[in-house]
Amino acid sequence: MPNRLVNGEVWTDEQGEPIHAHGGHMLWYKGFYYWYGEDRRAENYVSCYRSADLFHWEFRSHILTVNTQTEPIRVRTDLRLSNEDGSKINLERPKVLYNELTRKFVLWAHYENGKDYRAAACAIATSDRPDEGFVYHGSFNPYGYMSRDCTLFQDDNGSAYFISAARDNADLHVYRLADDYLNVDRLIRKLWQGEYREAPAVFKRNGRYYMLSSFCTGWAPNQGKYAVADSMEGDWSLLHDFGDETTYDTQPAFVLKLSENEFLYVSDRWNAQEYDRSGYVILPIHFEAEKPVLRPFEHIQLEATTGVIHFQL
Ligand code: DGJ
Repeated sequence: MPNRLVNGEVWTDEQGEPIHAHGGHMLWYKGFYYWYGEDRRAENYVSCYRSADLFHWEFRSHILTVNTQTEPIRVRTDLRLSNEDGSKINLERPKVLYNELTRKFVLWAHYENGKDYRAAACAIATSDRPDEGFVYHGSFNPYGYMSRDCTLFQDDNGSAYFISAARDNADLHVYRLADDYLNVDRLIRKLWQGEYREAPAVFKRNGRYYMLSSFCTGWAPNQGKYAVADSMEGDWSLLHDFGDETTYDTQPAFVLKLSENEFLYVSDRWNAQEYDRSGYVILPIHFEAEKPVLRPFEHIQLEATTGVIHFQL
């Protein structure tokens, strides 16, 4: 299987099957990257793959499907995984964190009814294992707010944050999660009111917090922006350009931290006509002083003996 990935293509797993992990997230756990993402085929909602090197992906399971076991939690939620008429819902941008206190893998996603974007809710699932056994705990509107494109961020001290687009995407909310990550605990900030940010992705570098996001243009790519903050609970800067006017034909999914100074921008190149053929693009984030900079590279190459990743034009 490949030691070389072509940006923008639908990458394949070890069986040669297309990887369906759109709008996704990766979690490093015990020697593997676990890649979670949207899988809209058949009865699937979220699928999970794993890899030790980011190139060779093993399909693990469809962790959320129309048939996933449901179980209420203390939050009053809507437990339905399909509509009254039998049609599928949508679970978008799934993100997973490991909670050290409860030893649970906790997934948050964006819930819609699959017909329109009016539900604007978040959804939660948990498991004892990273790649199977997820139980769905339902969807809800945090503090009654709309909640669309979203991400999770876990700080070094275990505090976790859910960031999601509210008020028809006009504002971006930052919520701190409860210790067990099963509820929002506080609405920390309403960021950039009226600036319509989608696809948020947060990372921490040298003690500073960075948030990437896109503008709100459906499946069409647009100019990415970044902002910085000294604390997840503090003030964020204004938005500054990141990448080119289409962010190299991508929309952020998440940022993967490889080391204190190595960060990968992981993104989707959406195919608006054929969603399942949406591709993946990974680019290194360079820093010019504190400014994150993205450059387009066509290929990603793994040096098999050393595990070093090279980006090539
Ligand atoms: C942009 C969002 O970022 C995607 O996750 C998806 O919801 C599309 N809009 C739908 O148009």
